[in-house]
Amino acid sequence: MPQAGSSRAVFLVGFMGAGKTSVGSSLARRLGWSFEDLDDRIQSRAGRSVPEIFRDLGEAEFRRLEDAALRELLAELGAGPRVVALGGGAFAQPENVALLGSAGVHMIFLDAPAAELFRRCEQEQRERPLLRDAEQFRELYEQRRSSYLKASCRIDTACKSIDEVAAEVACSIGLG
Ligand code: S3P
Repeated sequence: MPQAGSSRAVFLVGFMGAGKTSVGSSLARRLGWSFEDLDDRIQSRAGRSVPEIFRDLGEAEFRRLEDAALRELLAELGAGPRVVALGGGAFAQPENVALLGSAGVHMIFLDAPAAELFRRCEQEQRERPLLRDAEQFRELYEQRRSSYLKASCRIDTACKSIDEVAAEVACSIGLG
Protein backbone atom coordinates (compact mmCIF):
# COMPACT_ATOMS: atom_id res chain seq x y z
CA MET A 1 0.00 0.00 0.00
CA PRO A 2 1.65 3.30 -1.07
CA GLN A 3 2.27 5.79 1.74
CA ALA A 4 0.81 9.31 1.64
CA GLY A 5 2.62 11.51 -0.85
CA SER A 6 4.77 8.70 -2.24
CA SER A 7 3.08 8.66 -5.64
CA ARG A 8 4.49 12.17 -5.97
CA ALA A 9 8.03 10.84 -5.76
CA VAL A 10 10.04 9.55 -8.69
CA PHE A 11 13.26 7.61 -8.19
CA LEU A 12 15.53 7.29 -11.21
CA VAL A 13 17.67 4.16 -11.19
CA GLY A 14 20.15 2.62 -13.58
CA PHE A 15 23.82 2.17 -14.30
CA MET A 16 26.58 4.80 -14.39
CA GLY A 17 26.13 7.06 -17.40
CA ALA A 18 22.37 6.47 -17.64
CA GLY A 19 21.70 10.20 -17.18
CA LYS A 20 19.91 9.87 -13.83
CA THR A 21 21.12 13.26 -12.55
CA SER A 22 20.62 15.25 -15.78
CA VAL A 23 17.25 13.67 -16.55
CA GLY A 24 16.23 14.09 -12.90
CA SER A 25 16.99 17.84 -12.94
CA SER A 26 15.14 18.27 -16.23
CA LEU A 27 12.16 16.25 -14.98
CA ALA A 28 11.99 18.20 -11.71
CA ARG A 29 11.97 21.51 -13.64
CA ARG A 30 9.23 20.20 -15.94
CA LEU A 31 7.04 19.06 -13.02
CA GLY A 32 7.89 21.94 -10.66
CA TRP A 33 9.07 19.38 -8.10
CA SER A 34 12.29 19.46 -6.09
CA PHE A 35 15.28 17.40 -7.18
CA GLU A 36 17.86 15.53 -5.16
CA ASP A 37 20.82 13.34 -6.06
CA LEU A 38 21.28 10.74 -3.30
CA ASP A 39 25.08 10.88 -3.73
CA ASP A 40 24.99 14.58 -2.75
CA ARG A 41 23.24 13.70 0.51
CA ILE A 42 25.81 10.94 1.19
CA GLN A 43 28.68 13.36 0.53
CA SER A 44 27.27 16.06 2.76
CA ARG A 45 26.58 13.62 5.62
CA ALA A 46 30.06 12.06 5.32
CA GLY A 47 31.87 15.37 4.72
CA ARG A 48 33.80 13.69 1.87
CA SER A 49 33.37 13.13 -1.85
CA VAL A 50 32.21 9.75 -3.18
CA PRO A 51 35.74 8.89 -4.46
CA GLU A 52 37.17 9.84 -1.04
CA ILE A 53 34.64 7.61 0.75
CA PHE A 54 35.58 4.66 -1.48
CA ARG A 55 39.29 5.33 -1.06
CA ASP A 56 39.34 6.07 2.69
CA LEU A 57 36.49 3.92 4.01
CA GLY A 58 35.84 1.28 1.34
CA GLU A 59 32.81 0.24 -0.68
CA ALA A 60 31.05 -1.55 2.22
CA GLU A 61 31.03 1.69 4.24
CA PHE A 62 29.82 3.62 1.18
CA ARG A 63 26.88 1.18 0.89
CA ARG A 64 26.09 1.65 4.58
CA LEU A 65 26.06 5.43 4.16
CA GLU A 66 23.97 5.05 0.99
CA ASP A 67 21.39 2.94 2.80
CA ALA A 68 21.22 5.42 5.71
CA ALA A 69 20.83 8.37 3.31
CA LEU A 70 18.05 6.56 1.42
CA ARG A 71 16.13 5.79 4.62
CA GLU A 72 16.50 9.40 5.77
CA LEU A 73 15.25 10.68 2.43
CA LEU A 74 12.27 8.30 2.36
CA ALA A 75 11.25 9.53 5.81
CA GLU A 76 11.06 13.06 4.37
CA LEU A 77 8.83 12.26 1.40
CA GLY A 78 5.71 13.72 2.98
CA ALA A 79 7.32 17.20 2.77
CA GLY A 80 6.56 17.63 -0.93
CA PRO A 81 6.86 16.07 -4.36
CA ARG A 82 10.34 15.23 -5.52
CA VAL A 83 12.53 13.58 -8.09
CA VAL A 84 15.50 11.59 -6.80
CA ALA A 85 18.50 10.29 -8.74
CA LEU A 86 20.09 7.23 -7.11
CA GLY A 87 23.74 6.25 -7.60
CA GLY A 88 24.29 3.34 -9.97
CA GLY A 89 24.74 0.75 -7.23
CA ALA A 90 21.88 1.75 -4.93
CA PHE A 91 19.16 -0.19 -6.74
CA ALA A 92 21.46 -3.21 -7.08
CA GLN A 93 21.12 -3.73 -3.29
CA PRO A 94 18.07 -5.96 -2.64
CA GLU A 95 17.23 -4.19 0.64
CA ASN A 96 16.97 -0.86 -1.18
CA VAL A 97 14.71 -2.36 -3.86
CA ALA A 98 12.47 -3.65 -1.05
CA LEU A 99 12.52 -0.30 0.79
CA LEU A 100 11.51 1.64 -2.32
CA GLY A 101 8.91 -0.96 -3.25
CA SER A 102 7.22 -0.70 0.12
CA ALA A 103 7.36 3.12 -0.04
CA GLY A 104 5.17 2.93 -3.16
CA VAL A 105 7.26 5.45 -5.11
CA HIS A 106 7.71 5.46 -8.88
CA MET A 107 10.94 3.63 -9.77
CA ILE A 108 12.12 4.34 -13.31
CA PHE A 109 15.02 2.44 -14.86
CA LEU A 110 16.95 4.56 -17.36
CA ASP A 111 18.74 2.17 -19.68
CA ALA A 112 21.11 2.15 -22.66
CA PRO A 113 23.56 -0.38 -24.10
CA ALA A 114 26.68 -0.78 -21.94
CA ALA A 115 28.95 0.55 -24.71
CA GLU A 116 26.91 3.75 -24.91
CA LEU A 117 26.91 4.15 -21.11
CA PHE A 118 30.69 3.71 -21.10
CA ARG A 119 31.13 6.35 -23.83
CA ARG A 120 29.02 8.83 -21.84
CA CYS A 121 31.08 8.24 -18.67
CA GLU A 122 34.30 8.75 -20.59
CA GLN A 123 33.01 12.04 -22.01
CA GLU A 124 31.92 13.24 -18.58
CA GLN A 125 35.35 12.56 -17.08
CA ARG A 126 33.93 12.50 -13.54
CA GLU A 127 35.93 10.28 -11.20
CA ARG A 128 33.93 7.09 -10.65
CA PRO A 129 35.51 4.60 -8.24
CA LEU A 130 33.82 1.59 -9.87
CA LEU A 131 34.72 2.46 -13.44
CA ARG A 132 37.91 0.78 -14.57
CA ASP A 133 37.76 -0.34 -18.21
CA ALA A 134 35.14 -1.14 -20.83
CA GLU A 135 35.12 -4.88 -20.13
CA GLN A 136 34.77 -4.59 -16.33
CA PHE A 137 32.11 -1.89 -16.86
CA ARG A 138 30.05 -4.16 -19.16
CA GLU A 139 30.32 -7.11 -16.75
CA LEU A 140 29.13 -5.02 -13.80
CA TYR A 141 26.25 -3.64 -15.89
CA GLU A 142 25.19 -7.18 -16.83
CA GLN A 143 25.41 -8.36 -13.22
CA ARG A 144 23.13 -5.54 -12.08
CA ARG A 145 20.64 -5.40 -14.94
CA SER A 146 18.23 -7.93 -13.41
CA SER A 147 17.96 -5.70 -10.33
CA TYR A 148 17.30 -2.58 -12.41
CA LEU A 149 14.52 -4.48 -14.19
CA LYS A 150 12.66 -4.66 -10.86
CA ALA A 151 11.82 -0.97 -11.33
CA SER A 152 8.23 -0.14 -12.28
CA CYS A 153 9.21 1.05 -15.75
CA ARG A 154 12.23 0.88 -18.12
CA ILE A 155 13.03 3.72 -20.49
CA ASP A 156 15.56 3.35 -23.28
CA THR A 157 17.69 6.50 -23.36
CA ALA A 158 19.90 5.66 -26.37
CA CYS A 159 19.94 8.41 -29.01
CA LYS A 160 17.55 10.61 -27.03
CA SER A 161 18.14 14.05 -25.53
CA ILE A 162 17.90 14.61 -21.79
CA ASP A 163 14.67 16.57 -22.22
CA GLU A 164 13.15 13.85 -24.41
CA VAL A 165 13.87 11.24 -21.75
CA ALA A 166 12.47 13.52 -19.03
CA ALA A 167 9.28 13.94 -21.09
CA GLU A 168 9.00 10.14 -21.41
CA VAL A 169 9.40 9.69 -17.67
CA ALA A 170 6.69 12.30 -17.06
CA CYS A 171 4.35 10.42 -19.46
CA SER A 172 5.14 7.11 -17.80
CA ILE A 173 3.83 8.42 -14.46
CA GLY A 174 0.77 10.04 -16.04
CA LEU A 175 2.10 13.61 -15.85
CA GLY A 176 3.15 14.10 -19.48
C1 S3P B 1 28.18 3.81 -8.16
C2 S3P B 1 27.76 4.83 -8.97
C3 S3P B 1 27.99 6.24 -8.67
C4 S3P B 1 28.22 6.45 -7.16
C5 S3P B 1 29.26 5.50 -6.66
C6 S3P B 1 28.88 4.04 -6.87
C7 S3P B 1 27.90 2.40 -8.55
O1 S3P B 1 26.87 7.05 -9.07
O2 S3P B 1 27.03 6.26 -6.43
O3 S3P B 1 30.45 5.79 -7.33
O4 S3P B 1 28.02 1.51 -7.69
O5 S3P B 1 27.55 2.18 -9.73
P1 S3P B 1 26.53 7.34 -10.64
O6 S3P B 1 25.63 6.23 -11.11
O7 S3P B 1 25.83 8.67 -10.59
O8 S3P B 1 27.82 7.39 -11.38
